[in-house]
Amino acid sequence: MLARAVTHALVGLEPRRVDVEAHVRDGIPGFAIVGLADRACQEARERVRSGISAAELTFPPGRITVNLAPAELRKEGSGFDLPIALALLAASQQLPRSALERTAAVGELALDGRLRRVGGILAVAEGARRLGVERLLCPAESAREAALAGVPAIPIRHLAEAVSYLRGERELQPEAPLTSDGNGRAVAPDLADVRGQERARRALELAAAGGHNVLLGGPPGTGKTMLARRLPGILPALDNDAALEVTRIHSVAGLVDREQPLVSLAPFRAPHHSASTAAIVGGGPNLRPGEASLAHRGVLLLDELAEFQRPALEALRQPLEDGFVSVSRAAGRVVFPARFMLAGTMNLCPCGGRGDPAAQCSCSAQRLARYRDKLSRALLDRFDLVLAMPRVRGEELAAAAGEGSVAVAQRVATARERLATKPPARDTEADALLRRAADRLHLSGRGYARVGRVARTIAALAGSEAVRSEHVAEALSYRSPDEFANV
Ligand SMILES: Nc1ncnc2c1ncn2[C@@H]1O[C@H](COP(=O)(O)OP(=O)(O)O)[C@@H](O)[C@H]1O
Ligand SMILES: [Mg+2]
Repeated sequence: MLARAVTHALVGLEPRRVDVEAHVRDGIPGFAIVGLADRACQEARERVRSGISAAELTFPPGRITVNLAPAELRKEGSGFDLPIALALLAASQQLPRSALERTAAVGELALDGRLRRVGGILAVAEGARRLGVERLLCPAESAREAALAGVPAIPIRHLAEAVSYLRGERELQPEAPLTSDGNGRAVAPDLADVRGQERARRALELAAAGGHNVLLGGPPGTGKTMLARRLPGILPALDNDAALEVTRIHSVAGLVDREQPLVSLAPFRAPHHSASTAAIVGGGPNLRPGEASLAHRGVLLLDELAEFQRPALEALRQPLEDGFVSVSRAAGRVVFPARFMLAGTMNLCPCGGRGDPAAQCSCSAQRLARYRDKLSRALLDRFDLVLAMPRVRGEELAAAAGEGSVAVAQRVATARERLATKPPARDTEADALLRRAADRLHLSGRGYARVGRVARTIAALAGSEAVRSEHVAEALSYRSPDEFANV
C-alpha cells in the first residue's frame, strides 16, 4: 500500500517541495530510503522505527521503501522524520490517508517519539504556505516560528499526539501568528558609558544613519571595542519584512529564540579573529550562512581586524559590494543575503604604541609593513569612515557621562527617514570640492562615490536641504587611510 506526505527541503533559504512516498509490501523485512538523502536523513530509519514503537503504534512488518521526490534534489537533515513516519503509518493503515491531504509536516523524532526542533522552520513554513496547505504539523518548540510564515502551525510534542490529531481523536489549536511590534529592545550597552572620543562618537552616528562602514584605529585601551559594541544600540528596529528576512537566515543557522522567534532588532555579530573563511562568509559542507549573512541588515564587527586571516577578510569584499554571498558546491549554487554594516577596530601597529604620545612604538619597519599588509588597499577602500582615535585624557575620563544611545538613535532615525524620502543632493560648490579632492587624494571611483554618500548622510543629519561643501569637507576628513596602510 502506498501513502504520501508533503514537506519541504531547503536550498539555501529557498523551500522546495518534497513528496514523501511510503510503500509497504509483503516480503523480507527491510527499510530503505531513496531519493538523494544525506546521512542525517538516512538515519531517519532508526529514529522513525523507535519513534513509532514508542508511540505504541505498529512498525509495519514487510518491505518498506520510502521515496523522497524529486530525486535530484538533495535532502539534508533530520526534518524529514515526521513526514516519513506519518506516510509509513498511512501506508500501513494506521492513519487514514486522507488525513495527510492538504497537510505538510516537518520535525525530527527522538527515540522516545518526542518531536525535536530543526533549523530553517520559517523557510519550510513559507514553502507550505505557498503550496496552500491547510496546516503544517511541526515541533511544538518551533510552532511560533512557523506561525510567522502565516500558515496554521499545529504544535506537536509527540508522534502519538500527531497521530491522534490526524485521526480526529483530539483537537490541537494552531499557534497564533505574531508580528513585529518593535518591542524587546535589546539591552545593548549604552553610549553614555563612553567618555570623550567625540570624533569617534560622531563617526558612529554617521555610520548608523547612513549604513556606512567604519574603522576605528588607535592605541589599546582607547575605547575602540567599547564604541563599536554600542553601534547596534543606535540602529532603528527592523520593519516587519526585514525582520522576517533576518529571521529566515537565523533560523537556518538554528539561532532563533523559541518564545520570541522574530528577530526584530538589527543583528550584531562579532566573530572571533580565528574564524575561518567559511565561518565568516558561509559555505562549508552543510552550506550554512556565515557571519556576514547573520549580520544581514545589522552590524558585522571585526574586532582587531588585523588579526583576522587575510583570506577571510578578502572574502568579505564580494558581499560588501553586492550585498549577498554566493556559495558553490557540487550540486549548484546557493545565495544568502549579506547586506551589513562593517565595523572594524585595530591597533595602529603590532606593539600598539603608535598613535600614543605616552608610548614609544617599538615595531620595526618590516613588522609594521607586514601588519598593514593584512589589510589590502581594496578592503580599506571599502571603509567609508576611517579614524585614528587618541588616548583619552585623565580629565576626560573623570568627566560627566556622555550622551546616551536613546538620544542618538532618535537623530539616526530622523536622518534615515530623510535619506529615504528626500535625500539631499550636492550643490555646485560641494560638487567642485569633491572633484578637486578626488584628484588631490587620488580617490578611486569607489572612494569618490563613498565620500559622496557620507556627505549626504552628514547633510541629512544636519537637516540640510542640500549637500554643501562643509558636509563634503567633513566626509573627506574620515578618509585618512595613511595611518593604516602601506603607502
Ligand atoms: N573613552 C572611554 N570612556 C570610558 N571608558 C573607557 C574609554 N576608553 C576605554 N575605556 C575603558 O577601558 C576599557 C577598555 O576599552 P576597549 O574599548 O576595550 O579598548 P580598545 O578596544 O581600544 O583596546 C573599557 O572597558 C573601558 O572600561
Ligand atoms: Mg579592543
